[in-house]
Amino acid sequence: MYPDTNKVLGLLMRKDRMEPSERSSVLFCYFAQWFTDSFLRKHPLDPRRTTSNHEIDLCQIYGLDEPSTWALREGSDGRLKIRIMNGEEYPPLLYKDGNLDTQFFDDKAEVGLSFLRAGRAPLWEKAVNEQSDNALTKPDRRDYFYASGLDRAGSTVAYSAFNIIFLREHNRIAKLISEGEPSWDDDRIFETARLVNIRQILSVVVNDYIRHIAGVFPFELETGFAESQPWYRTNRISIEFNLLYRWHSLIPEELELEDGCNINFKDYRFNNKLLEEVGIESLISAASAQKAGCYGLFNTPSFMKEAELGGLKWARMFGVQPFNRYRERFGLDAYYSFDALTGGNRDVTNALKAVYSDVNDVEFTIGLLAEGRGEGELMPETVTRMVAYDAFTHILTNPLLASEIHTPATFSKVGWDIIQESATLEQIVKRNVQRPNAVTVSLAV
Ligand code: HEM
Repeated sequence: MYPDTNKVLGLLMRKDRMEPSERSSVLFCYFAQWFTDSFLRKHPLDPRRTTSNHEIDLCQIYGLDEPSTWALREGSDGRLKIRIMNGEEYPPLLYKDGNLDTQFFDDKAEVGLSFLRAGRAPLWEKAVNEQSDNALTKPDRRDYFYASGLDRAGSTVAYSAFNIIFLREHNRIAKLISEGEPSWDDDRIFETARLVNIRQILSVVVNDYIRHIAGVFPFELETGFAESQPWYRTNRISIEFNLLYRWHSLIPEELELEDGCNINFKDYRFNNKLLEEVGIESLISAASAQKAGCYGLFNTPSFMKEAELGGLKWARMFGVQPFNRYRERFGLDAYYSFDALTGGNRDVTNALKAVYSDVNDVEFTIGLLAEGRGEGELMPETVTRMVAYDAFTHILTNPLLASEIHTPATFSKVGWDIIQESATLEQIVKRNVQRPNAVTVSLAV
């Protein structure tokens, strides 16, 4: 018998002020959301299904399937469609004269983006409106929606900023490849540039993102060694991975812009006009300078209540096992008392006791957040271990890193050279903005 969901939500929600993270910036929070959105994807209509392709494939800018990709491609020189503003590339707009642009959506033909095709457009519009005070009824919001690969594009201004950066990076790589391989057609240039771009994001994820989470270990993406490991097989995203990755306690109530203005949650969501006014450089710098929330209980902002409730019910619907059972499955000792679980944190222990009668009943997602942690650790032991298992078996089994594929023949001579250069998030951002010296890119603060 599960405890009442309202009681459990009481363990999650922020009370008055945000408990700040010791070392993560809001950019880390935004990057985590943008990055994981490409593979943690519950089907919006059927909770038993996923829309995930299971791989890290930059579907945020390429779409989830062939028709989506075609809708986003320019059709020449291997490029993605763009719109030029002030001399810079931006994604094309999703709406034209108040309606979905037919190049991205045509219900009669099998054309367009996956989340709009086959009668899904009204459902997508309803879902966006529900989360955004009816953004799609307001021209200063709707007319700035970008056409991108996924349904949650634009869900924060930073999500849009990352999409813009990696769109520009694709077209930059495509140009270099077309110059290096003048006889190649659009298709070959496009597919090769896409592979190079995906290969780069794999480096960023390990060398910037995982390294930040791990803290002390100098992780470096290595190719070749995973193939001889017993876990080397095609990755499948599990329900547990989706649940453990809902790091909503990192979300701040407000984004503090460089000019001192504070932008609240409603204004930093589905608001590309704001992004264009503030500028990518300034937005990324502001998010790099502000502290994210600390991973843990009692730190999820109130506006995420519905999303949290959805996750809780989803886990129960599938009979996801309690936290202690996952500890054992991952080779860790089950906790024998609430106090042991929370590392002796009296407040958290008492709060858990008020909701669960036995430590073995503590639900998976709650235990992950409630667990005590060591000095300087970003996250507690169990979630860190599970993220590490999942992340490495996910990243290192990516087909692009297999010895036979990870060669100049796959990426082209030019693409291979690009891959050999280091590609940090900071370098990729800086080479795709007009004022590289005006931007600070940091997952740590
Ligand atoms: C930055 C602000 C964020 C906002 C506005 C946000 C918003 C949301 C919303 C509304 C949902 C529910 C979607 C649904 O049920 O249809 C959701 C789900 C989710 N969020 Fe967040 N989130 C944010 C940050 C994060 C972060 C930092 C992470 C951690 C990486 C994260 C991971 C997830 C995951 C894994 C799901 C489940 C997705 C699915 O299965 O489709 N989110 N988020």
